[in-house]
Amino acid sequence: MEYVLKIGGSVLTDKETERKLSEDFSDILETVAEHPQGVIVHGAGSFGHPPAERHGLASGSREGIMETHSAVSDLNSLVVEELRENSVDAIPVHPLSASYRDSDTHMMTEQVLWMEREGCTPVLHGDGVVTEGKGFTVISGDEIVPMIEKEAGTGEVGFCTSAPGVLDEDGEVVDEIDSLDEFHERDTEGIDVSGGMRNKLEKIFEYGIDARIFGKEDLKDFLEGEEVGTLVRGR
Ligand SMILES: Nc1ncnc2c1ncn2[C@@H]1O[C@H](COP(=O)(O)OP(=O)(O)OP(=O)(O)O)[C@@H](O)[C@H]1O
Ligand SMILES: [Mg+2]
Repeated sequence: MEYVLKIGGSVLTDKETERKLSEDFSDILETVAEHPQGVIVHGAGSFGHPPAERHGLASGSREGIMETHSAVSDLNSLVVEELRENSVDAIPVHPLSASYRDSDTHMMTEQVLWMEREGCTPVLHGDGVVTEGKGFTVISGDEIVPMIEKEAGTGEVGFCTSAPGVLDEDGEVVDEIDSLDEFHERDTEGIDVSGGMRNKLEKIFEYGIDARIFGKEDLKDFLEGEEVGTLVRGR
């Protein structure tokens, strides 16, 4: 396996309009299709964040799970279909059916690794997760990526998002970030029930991996092994 890549819902969808794909949707997936030897995780974007917010899924809900899960599954089907149209053996994997949460989060990852070994490209997504005492909560793509990397150990982890990297207080991309203390929160466009950029950094540090955060203009270079965007040093 060459890499684990999160493609943000912020680049695949128009986060201002519910259930709308972005103008770049096809181009992004065409770029990914040129490097199919990895695991793809996509975010919920304008498919999943609005129903999750309406139902308070982030803090726990049972009635919101099906509406949210079916919305993110619809986006997942569109991503898988687009990759397949570009000759990739993309296979959907729904975290709702492969994970649970008590004081920790547990996810089956073996089948994901096996799919990749067999020449397929697993495509996971932000989803709901059954959670002790709460019904269901949100499992973000930002958390799924480090869980897979912990098993796969590719050393090539990327988060493609709507910002060109982690920005400092002047709006400049920082080359490296080693701790959350160095992070300056900026405004997030659209809804993000899982905590936006801060959540990405928290999960990278929590799981102790290194990862790059970059914008869609750097996606091709990332897939070709170049050093793009911001290196988050969580190891
Ligand atoms: N210091 C910062 N540097 C870069 N982006 C930041 C910063 N602070 C906040 N952000 C915001 O984080 C957002 C990206 O996170 P967001 O969760 O919206 O996207 P995503 O995770 O790619 O999408 P999804 O959650 O749908 O997968 C951008 O809109 C950006 O403005
Ligand atoms: Mg997000």
